[in-house]
Amino acid sequence: MSSVQSWSCPTMKLSNGLQMPILGIGTSQVGGFCQETVLYAVRDCGIRLIDTSKYNGFEVKLAEVFRDCGVPRSDLWITNKLWPEDYGYETAKKAFQKSCSQVGVEYLDIYMLHWPGTMKPGGCNREQRAESWRALEELYEEGLCRSIGVSNFKIHHLEQLKEDCSVVPHVNQVEYHPYQLPNKLIEYCRKEDIAFQGYSPLAKGQTLSNPTINELAHKYGRTPAQICIRWSIQNGAITIPKSTKKERIVENYQVIFGFSLEEEDMENINKLHDGRHVSWDPTNVE
Ligand SMILES: NC(=O)c1ccc[n+]([C@@H]2O[C@H](COP(=O)([O-])OP(=O)(O)OC[C@H]3O[C@@H](n4cnc5c(N)ncnc54)[C@H](OP(=O)(O)O)[C@@H]3O)[C@@H](O)[C@H]2O)c1
Repeated sequence: MSSVQSWSCPTMKLSNGLQMPILGIGTSQVGGFCQETVLYAVRDCGIRLIDTSKYNGFEVKLAEVFRDCGVPRSDLWITNKLWPEDYGYETAKKAFQKSCSQVGVEYLDIYMLHWPGTMKPGGCNREQRAESWRALEELYEEGLCRSIGVSNFKIHHLEQLKEDCSVVPHVNQVEYHPYQLPNKLIEYCRKEDIAFQGYSPLAKGQTLSNPTINELAHKYGRTPAQICIRWSIQNGAITIPKSTKKERIVENYQVIFGFSLEEEDMENINKLHDGRHVSWDPTNVE
């Protein structure tokens, strides 16, 4: 199997000046997790952005990957997320320390509020988000998180956070693939200088059998997965596909920066949007 050793990833400048890789690897429960494949991605293929969360349950396994990969900590970009059961000022800080210790690191490159809703009985979402965000702001000021962000936030959540807190999130990570194109949110993030990160770029595999995607794969001599990942990157989203298979790691990363989709083809993929979510839908979270 060929590897992608010479692969080097472009970065996006965040509002605090940090350069974040624009293509990384996801880790999630749905579809499984393969530690050996993540190690291969980081050690052999040069992938530096690794996305995880406490909720996924792989922090300890990732600690082994980071220990064994031979890549200096400063070259990695590790994303982790605060799960709503830990929302609140004190609990957020404790959860951060626990997550760092589980992952075996002293700091995170970005720490995110995972979901706009709270799981605390009787808890007010807005207050809980603000309390938790204040904890993240302090972790950021102390240098324990190099940047802080949110995930699954809609415009109204971002607007409230802006009123309640002082640091504007550096990144918003939301579901993003040809069937889910939240244009108003993207526009809002651009206006507020919040980097837009898309998860589930393959719609968990659902887009790979789409006829338009397959026609374009044929036209460009690429695979359907490569077309979807390229489309996401070309639309300006930081992108984190996931695979448990080494050969798909090579497929998903090696040629993405070696071709581009014509404007008309980008538009044709944009038109596939039907609003479906393959993960979860935060629209009705107050
Ligand atoms: N913040 C959030 O709330 C949130 C929610 C969901 C996901 N995420 C993040 O986003 C990451 C990616 O999203 P995702 O895992 O939901 O979905 P995804 O990346 O869209 O799709 C992953 C699925 O596609 C398959 N796949 C990958 N490459 C392929 C290829 N080249 N050809 C055919 N099939 C391929 C994988 O199967 P194999 O393993 O068999 O290759 C897996 O089942 C997650 O791992 C997680 O880090 C975040």
